[in-house]
Amino acid sequence: MNPDLANLRNSPFVALRSLLDPLEPAPNLSPLALTIGEPQNQPPQLMKDVLIENDHLYGKYPPGNATPELRAATCNWLNRRYQLPEGMIDADAHITPANGTKEALYMLAQVITDPSRTEQKPIFLIPNPYYHVYHAAAVMAGAEPVFLNATKDINFFPDLDALDEDTLHRCTGFFLCNPSNPQGTIAGKAYLLRALELARKYDFTLIVDECYTEIYNAEAPVGILEVCNELGGSLDNVMSFHSLSKRSSGAGMRSGFSVGDAKLTKAFLNLRNFAGAAVPLPICAASAALWNDDDHVQINRDRYSTNFDIAERILSGRFEFYRPPAGFFLWLNVGDGVAATKKLWTDCAVRVLPGEYLSGTDANGVNPGIPYIRIALVFDPEMTEEALIRLANSL
Ligand SMILES: Cc1ncc(COP(=O)(O)O)c(C=O)c1O
Repeated sequence: MNPDLANLRNSPFVALRSLLDPLEPAPNLSPLALTIGEPQNQPPQLMKDVLIENDHLYGKYPPGNATPELRAATCNWLNRRYQLPEGMIDADAHITPANGTKEALYMLAQVITDPSRTEQKPIFLIPNPYYHVYHAAAVMAGAEPVFLNATKDINFFPDLDALDEDTLHRCTGFFLCNPSNPQGTIAGKAYLLRALELARKYDFTLIVDECYTEIYNAEAPVGILEVCNELGGSLDNVMSFHSLSKRSSGAGMRSGFSVGDAKLTKAFLNLRNFAGAAVPLPICAASAALWNDDDHVQINRDRYSTNFDIAERILSGRFEFYRPPAGFFLWLNVGDGVAATKKLWTDCAVRVLPGEYLSGTDANGVNPGIPYIRIALVFDPEMTEEALIRLANSL
């Protein structure tokens, strides 16, 4: 067995099952699970129509880098969304469609890790709390994951000024999630610019996970490509990831893509030709149709906004409630997230995720997620209201 496997952490959902399965939920109440970041509304009809129109293509092996139509649709969306000049993104040289971004984020770590970079192990910087794949990707690439606590006082983004020279020299990749997950804050342009400058100065890859960039409240989050554009248009040292899972509520279709550095994209595609599952042709067609359409995304944003209105009404003034500018989670400070999770399950059959399961213990022994719970506002307004009223009464 690969010894690095022993360094993988439990998935948050496995840990949650171990915590709650031995406990009886409150009787006479229907269980409400606000744990998983999976949109519960149906994907747009457009997706189903195009899948059906193209279902005769399931018999064919898909090309390794998907279809020119899908790459063009993602490229056009990037240009539209981030007001990029025509030609800055080359759909063939910079874009790699993938079966969702989870496996692509993982596999990119294998591409960018050079064990001989420095005498000590290369480092991956990981915002803490974090999407669990970042840690696993770093560990299985033979690198050292280093947690950077992303706390409330710093807008829930890692403090870039706190990084020392040694760490930056050893850094091979920096996973930056913007909007932040699970806190839903947005990094400003100056922050992204600073992160990109560091990546170029110390020659590491800035991996920007932008899968929540379309789910926002008032203002569309700045993208890393806008910053690249301001610096002259080069994508060097950047790999950004986008997904239809949240944007189009299409998590089960498994469709996303990376865009970035041409040299890395070429190497990534080469590795994916052996180890990546190419995107099936009907899914390429449906994905292209979804990237070409923005109307259904506004409908999704409006749905989340209604749920946040409900949350604001019920929770305002408690648990350090704030209305996140992006994403669809509440990140509530309840003092002890694990204790609150158990109490909510046994008191009122509401299932939430302790913040501790989404974050790690840093080099100083601090786990910034301990006081928090994460709540996914992905259900309809009625169910959201019912769950939040139960929660407010119980805690
Ligand atoms: C922060 C973040 N990044 C990436 C992903 C992966 O999304 P997908 O593989 O569905 O594209 C998720 C999924 O929940 C996520 O929360």
